[in-house]
Amino acid sequence: MTLYAYRGEILSVSHDPLQDRDAVRHEADGLLLVEDGIVVARGPYADLAARYPGVTVEPLPGLIVPGFIDAHIHYPQMDRIASHGEQLLDWLDRHIFPVEKAFVDRAHADQVAGLFLDELLRNGTTSALVFPTVHAHSVDALFEAALDRNMRILSGKVLMDLGPDGLCDTPESARVDSEALIARWRGRGRLGYAVTPRFALTSSDDQLQVAGGLLAAHPDIVMHTHLAENERECAAVAERFPDAADYLDVYDRFGLVGDRSIFAHGIHLSDRACARLSESGAGVAVCPTSNLFLGSGFFNFTQAADHGVRIGLGTDVGAGTSFSMLHTAGVAYQAALMRGHRLDPLRALYLATAGSARLLRIENRVGALEVGQEADFVLLDDRATPLLARRTSEASLAERLFALQILGDDRAVYRTYIMGQCAWDRNLTTA
Ligand code: GUN
Ligand code: ZN
Repeated sequence: MTLYAYRGEILSVSHDPLQDRDAVRHEADGLLLVEDGIVVARGPYADLAARYPGVTVEPLPGLIVPGFIDAHIHYPQMDRIASHGEQLLDWLDRHIFPVEKAFVDRAHADQVAGLFLDELLRNGTTSALVFPTVHAHSVDALFEAALDRNMRILSGKVLMDLGPDGLCDTPESARVDSEALIARWRGRGRLGYAVTPRFALTSSDDQLQVAGGLLAAHPDIVMHTHLAENERECAAVAERFPDAADYLDVYDRFGLVGDRSIFAHGIHLSDRACARLSESGAGVAVCPTSNLFLGSGFFNFTQAADHGVRIGLGTDVGAGTSFSMLHTAGVAYQAALMRGHRLDPLRALYLATAGSARLLRIENRVGALEVGQEADFVLLDDRATPLLARRTSEASLAERLFALQILGDDRAVYRTYIMGQCAWDRNLTTA
């Protein structure tokens, strides 16, 4: 048994503050007790310390928040972040498909997977729902690297039988490979499987049917795809599926809309689609830096809230421009305001942690630093730069958090902890 006690300022938001005003939990001088990686006690230091005599308490200088959870990101695309000049469909053809083809080489996949997970940790991200490539071994590479780091990662082979040469599978190989991966990885480490059709345009009807079958056959997996991101994409989907009520309805027809479905983007959604998302329990990974970068548009936070659609936050690297969930939360604020919605900084923290955990169906394990949860957390430094230090001195909690979101990024991540153990320390690493 290993017991660790950490003393510091602790903040978490376990439920959507729009629905539950008591969701915010803040201990200005808190104590967090971690036994074998699990939070066993949390509360004000003054109340809790006497219950644990003899336990060495480590003071943590900074703001302790739950580890960030990136609800949508592509690991093979990290080497094509910041690729200039195109909207979605041309960007895929010109920049992304070529870089994904390189993952036919397992050694390359291994190398990028390790660098990718280390970059997540550097940014305070402890869990993520990750697109790999069409190659089954791209999942093995990611999951093995995640096992090494004991990270809670969800992923699954990309299905794309209508993809370009060199990135195509078939409905049958998609089914066989996915089944084999599910069997190989089930129950190992902190990993979870996601059946991952790329988007409606790169899968045949037969393959979308296969994806729906996999989701129905395995109650412990989730489904991850893209939805209604870009106008040209939406027009192409409408042309191919003239009978569908809208883009979401295409997925619905193949059994892909349910409470284990995670859709990235959802920029161009009808009220019907929002109502259907809400009723089915499906949710949206909102990716504001990507939506700006590709000129896709702005997510309608008001429409989603009015319909009670579950949402989380994703970076969508390589279309997203930063691995930092702090920065992503800051851009989410600006994107929301473009459509008249004021995103509260505490709600933004919720979306980057427990909100994304709920979306990914891992909320019992991580996201809020509650007793019984795994102790993944980040130590934030709201004095990381001279400007941050000036802006956060004598500021309220919400103001400090907002300044971290608007001005902060990886520089504000002092340490990242995985199951109570330090996995990244700004002061110990020179990379
Ligand atoms: N739609 C289909 N594939 C992709 C992708 O790789 N990135 C983004 N942003 N959208 C997509
Ligand atoms: Zn994406």
